[in-house]
Amino acid sequence: MISIEQAIDEAMRYARTFLPEGKVATYIPELAHGDPGQLGVCLITKDGTVYHDGDWQQEFTIQSISKTICLIFALQTAGYEKVFSKVGVEPTGDAFNSIVKLETKTLHPLNPMINAGAIATASCCMDLEDPFGAFMDLTRRLCGRESIQLNESVYLSEKKSGMRNRSMAYLMQSDNILECDAELALDLYFRMCSVSVTTEDLARYAVVLANDGVDPATGERLVENWIVRIVKTLMVTCGMYDGSGEFAMKVGIPAKSGVGGGIMASVEDRMGIAAFGPALDAKGNSVGAYRVLEYLSQALRLHYF
Ligand code: DON
Repeated sequence: MISIEQAIDEAMRYARTFLPEGKVATYIPELAHGDPGQLGVCLITKDGTVYHDGDWQQEFTIQSISKTICLIFALQTAGYEKVFSKVGVEPTGDAFNSIVKLETKTLHPLNPMINAGAIATASCCMDLEDPFGAFMDLTRRLCGRESIQLNESVYLSEKKSGMRNRSMAYLMQSDNILECDAELALDLYFRMCSVSVTTEDLARYAVVLANDGVDPATGERLVENWIVRIVKTLMVTCGMYDGSGEFAMKVGIPAKSGVGGGIMASVEDRMGIAAFGPALDAKGNSVGAYRVLEYLSQALRLHYF
């Protein structure tokens, strides 16, 4: 088998050829400033070796990758019964911001990885005095970086422009799905999505998940193993939205994407990988990050099946 360094080098060259196929997200005005030519990757093995290439240190907003942390946070603070009385665990086959099944299928959002599901999940965490502060503490511990901050301008841009999310939140409030006022749940959700990270941060988080919730660097358990299992299962079935089936077939690793251009992937017992490139495909997944993971999966034999 080729070395990890060589696999990364080849993966980056392969992925770059696909960048012109993607477009930067513009529906959140602040994200439109992203550079579609950027591409970066960071891979951290369980023994702590860090590999990286390209724009791996570029900060970008975590966006929907925060939905995995939101789920961990809600399961830790509100518990299994509460969270899964608000949100299901089935894939939708619809876009991440689709409202349609809330009205036609079930009142509850189908899973915590779509926008409506994450808003409902976030609403379970409002008993805490400072929900976003506690979420940031958890995020910083999972990513192993104390200095992680909110990107204030992306947060304000989302808050101002997020009318689809607002529509879904108010619909859920009218159906008594939310545990708090819609605007409170939305504010926490917008903040969660606007946390600024690098591929190194997300690769560290991914390796914690790969190591069953224990930080391999310190030996400290950060997430209970029953929660890790739920999160990774939902990453496989719903982590790439209506592209989850194809990603499972082609890449075969639990992963989560965000419209900021990141994809985080967790290779059981072996490594965490995060790739970043702001050019997105039609489903909101990073074209470059997707191709980096596809190549690495094949070259390093990471596919689960
Ligand atoms: O609410 C939104 O639409 C964004 N804050 C997050 C969506 C997202 O990242 C979907 N990802 N591929």
